[in-house]
Formats: sequence, structure tokens, C-alpha cells
Amino acid sequence: MCGIVGYAGTRPALDVLINGLKRLEYRGYDSSGVALFFEGKIEIQKSQGKVENIERLLQQLPAERKNAYRVGIGHTRWATHGKPTTQNAHPHRTGHVVLVHNGIIENYLEIKQELIAKGHRPASETDSELFGFLVLDAMDGGLGLVEAVRMSFLRLHGSCSVVVMSEKEPGMVVGVRNGTPLVAAADEQGGGVIASDAQPIIEYSRDVYFLEDGDMVIATEKGLTFSEIRLGQPVRRTPIHVDWSIERLDKQGFDHYMLKEIHEQSVTVVDTLNEMLDRAKADPFPLAARPGAELLSSASDMTLVACGTSWHAALLGKYWLERFARVPVSVDYASEYRYREPVLQPRSVVVGISQSGETADTLAVIKDMKRRGVGTIGLTNVRGSTIAREVQASFHTSAGPEIGVAATKTFTAQMLSMLLWAGHLGVKRKTLPPTMAVRLFDDVIRLPLLLNDLLARDGALVRATKEIAEKVRNSKGFFFMGRGYSFPIALEGALKLKEIAYVHAEGYAAGELKHGPIAMLDESMTVVVIAPKDTWRDKSVSNLEEVRARGARIIGVGSAGDTQMERLSDFWIPVNTAGLDEGLSPFLTAPVVQLLSYYLAVLKGTDVDKPRNLAKSVTVE
Ligand code: M6R
Repeated sequence: MCGIVGYAGTRPALDVLINGLKRLEYRGYDSSGVALFFEGKIEIQKSQGKVENIERLLQQLPAERKNAYRVGIGHTRWATHGKPTTQNAHPHRTGHVVLVHNGIIENYLEIKQELIAKGHRPASETDSELFGFLVLDAMDGGLGLVEAVRMSFLRLHGSCSVVVMSEKEPGMVVGVRNGTPLVAAADEQGGGVIASDAQPIIEYSRDVYFLEDGDMVIATEKGLTFSEIRLGQPVRRTPIHVDWSIERLDKQGFDHYMLKEIHEQSVTVVDTLNEMLDRAKADPFPLAARPGAELLSSASDMTLVACGTSWHAALLGKYWLERFARVPVSVDYASEYRYREPVLQPRSVVVGISQSGETADTLAVIKDMKRRGVGTIGLTNVRGSTIAREVQASFHTSAGPEIGVAATKTFTAQMLSMLLWAGHLGVKRKTLPPTMAVRLFDDVIRLPLLLNDLLARDGALVRATKEIAEKVRNSKGFFFMGRGYSFPIALEGALKLKEIAYVHAEGYAAGELKHGPIAMLDESMTVVVIAPKDTWRDKSVSNLEEVRARGARIIGVGSAGDTQMERLSDFWIPVNTAGLDEGLSPFLTAPVVQLLSYYLAVLKGTDVDKPRNLAKSVTVE
């Protein structure tokens, strides 16, 4: 889950590395570092904490020196082996070899013992440093850098990527990918850049090579070359054109990326509709013809696997697919499913949902299902991501880059994609009556406008969530509760609050409260009751009364004009669900819990975009 950048070319390499690391900080920010060639020698700067610490260290260098670097590598770390200290920070030097690494070397103990027996003395606690000794020994044995990296990498077990340089061969950066992502692009001005994802790269080229497992890439001033590591043979790789604009990678006046991304959700809906649908067709839910649409149609049943927020989106996917398309759907945590013995039918389809497209557990399920010959679909927000490439058929959510670690707009894009699948299948299978399909689709088309109103920059929702956050900031704990479509939103609200505000919160199906958790309720607790006008609203109101009777403070989230809910709540947040199918309320209630968590986190003074201990792309088990 670390971030890697490497550059060899004609630009000032330090700028390429620092800008790149900032774009990759979402992957981990325990420590960071850079290594750069200067007059044939490699200079390393590293520090505990965020990339800004390295920038501060580098400020002491004279400007001419900073501009002189042309080749280097950088890293931002999410600690797995060894504490997040400066010593354990990457790049690691072993003699003339310097490297950065992302992932885990599973056989590191065996390699360490072997190296110690040879007389080597690793200086850090990391598994990464050991790789440097392997390369050093191979080069000292007569191999060139490329061949030494290749032979050494073949010794490793586990998923990882490395990027390596050596003072014996200045001007060259060598990267290898196996299991954790690595992408590369030829710099249009000459040279090549390598990174853990496309964000640091699109400034230099939109044509991005997504390396396959077992690929090696070499960047020099002349550009890029690719080979495979088994035999070292050259391979041809075709770039994928990435359509993200650089502007979308900036905060655009918002205090945090998360806030910007919450406010972008009406655009997300429009972009995802454009991506998923063939708008030239007049029928409701005209899913664009692609292999994934066929596979969905042929499924006898579906299993949706995901983690975290994506799992919450999957729960909603189940509700819609069951209701509109009458397909049996089960939802599983990828980390559980991968170790179970699921019962699958010949036409079962397993769907991996992941904004990053790299989550280790979700990917493992997809790979396993592929091996068993089960149909696999991916729903990711990153074109060319590993899950997108591993699955039989891939769908892309068009949320654009999401930089805040907390998933917000990608959640909306995932929900919408699955709703569109459900509507499309419902029409095809005739389980969704034509008039209802037309009405539902009209409602979907209204979502961007509704979200636009809801998320006006200084609008009522922003003001309400800010004020309420101030009033409940000292609560001992939070419960989020909802029924039906509001249950996954309750889970999501609690996850968001824990994740960015570090406040204890639990999400519950409202009916479950009295089976245990109600014992915790008293004046010190706040309960967020999500109950828009729908089939379950009256039952949720009864649960709200039970909460009131225990003295907990209530934040009611419901349909505008619901005076009973408003009266029963200590704080009231209305959303405009008028005339909307009840299945669509999550699109309006999700931004409420997102903003509430955001403003609570701001009041707590946490690092909203980079919450502690987390990373955006979870590529370890
Ligand atoms: O990239 P993925 O969607 O597979 O990630 C899954 C979870 O790690 C992710 O949703 C996580 O829970 C988010 N940080 C939640 O905001």
C-alpha cells in the first residue's frame, strides 16, 4: 500500500518525484523519501511522517542543486514490516544499490538468514532492504543492473513491486511488478516515469502502461523498454489512454479533497450515467452493449464481494437487483469469502466491487473464481487496475480521481452502477413492469439535479451538518440506524465517522437495536436515525421513540415535510425525496452522513484526507 515513483529523463527529477509522491500519499504516509543521482552518486533524503517533511529537508539545498537532478526514485510508506521510523523509510541503500518497494516479501526470513550467514548486516527492520542485498550480490557476481534485478526478483515470494537504481549504472531506473500495481509512461519531453498509479504520471503523458505481473520496465533518458522477468525477453505493451484531467487532481478551493469529492457527486452521477448507458437508445436503462452486460444477463445468481465502503454499496446492489431483476444475490466480505467453500451454480457470476481495483482480498476472490471457471465481473474506478484486468468483464465507474482516503463519490458511482444493472436486467427479464421502468429511470435521471440542490456549496445541508456537528461533538459515541435502503447508509455513516473522526460509531439495522445495543443508550450518546418516507419509515419512527425514551440525542434524517420525524428529533436534516422511488433515497442520504462525519472530523482536528493508520488502496491482506 506504499506509493512508488521513479523518473529518468530531461526534467528536474526532484519536482517529478515530490509532486508524484504528493499524489500518491493516499497510499500511505507513515514516512517518505527520495533518492537522486548527482554526479554519479546517489543522494538519499528520508523522514518519518508525510512528504512535506522531506520537502522541508530539501529546502536547505541550493536551487541549482535541486534543478540538477535528472534521475531518481521516491517512496511514501504504509508500514507493514517494521515501525514507521526514518530508518525504516525508503529508499534503502545497500552499497551502490538503492531501491523502493511496495508490498510484502513473504520469504523474507529465509532470505534474511541467508544474507546474515553471508556476512551482510541489514540496517532496517524492513523486508524491502533485503532485496537490495540480493541485487548487490548479483551485481558483484558480474551481472548488470537489469539482469541482477531480474534474477533477484525471481527469488521473492509474495506480491510486491520494486524500483531500483545503482551507482554502477547511473541514468537508469528499473521497475518490476508482481501483484502490486506499477504503471509507466514515456515522458513526452524525453525519458520515462514509473509509479504505483497513473496520478503522478498524467502530467507527463495520458498514455499509461499498466504493467502485467512479471513485467519489468526500464526508464532512461531515451524512454521506456519492457521485458518479462522469467526469461528476460522483451515484451510489447500497449498503453491505455487515461482521460483524467490534472485539474481534477486539485482541491479547487475546498478545504479538503474529501469535501470537494462529496460536493462533486452530481457530476459523478452524470459521468457514470454517460459511461454505463447507451443514450442513443430510447428504452429505460439502456446499458451500453459490452461483454459485462451479457454476462450479467446470463447469470443465474450473483455474489457481490467487496470490502469497506464498497461492501456497503454491494448491499444496496443486492436490494435493487433482487427487487427489480429478481436475481438471487448474496453479498460477502472478500476477506471472508476467499477462505470459504461457496456453493456456486454453472451460471453463477461473482462480482468484485472496488474503487481502487487493487484491494488484495477482492482481487484474490476474482483470481480464485477465474481459476475455477466461474464468470467474473469487476466494478472499479480505475481503468487498467488489476481487478479490471483480471475479470472476465469489467465495468468502470466514472467518479474521476478520488484522493481523500474516505470513499465518497466512488460509493455513489458504485451504487448507481448497480442500480443501472438492476433496472436493465429488470427490463430484459420483464421483472420490472414497463411503466415502472420508465418511472424509475426518470427518477434516476433526476438525481444529478437533486444532488446539485442538496449539495449547494453553502446550502442548507452544509449549514445544518456543520451546526449539528458542533452541538454533538462531545458525544461519547454514535449509533447510525436505518431500515431497508437506509440500513447500508447507516453502516456507511458509522464507518465514515470512525475512519475520519476517530469517534466510536456503530451502524445498525434499526430493528436490531433492541437486541443488545440499546443497553448502551443514555444522554451521552447520539443516534442518527435515517428514515426517509418509505416502506420502513413508520417502523423506524417507533425505534426512534425507543431511543428517545433512553435519553440519547437524536439526529433525524428524513423526507422534507415529515413533521413527525422533525418533532421527535433533537436535530433535523431533511432531504427532498418527493416523488422519488423509495429505492433511490440512498443517493440523498449518503451525502448527509458523509458531511456530518466530515464536519465532526474537522472539529476534532484530524487529518481528514489522510486519516491515521489507513491507506486508500489496501493491497495487503
Ligand atoms: O478500493 P476498494 O473499494 O476495494 O476499498 C475497500 C475499502 O478499503 C474502502 O472502501 C475503505 O473502507 C474506505 N477507506 C472507506 O471510506
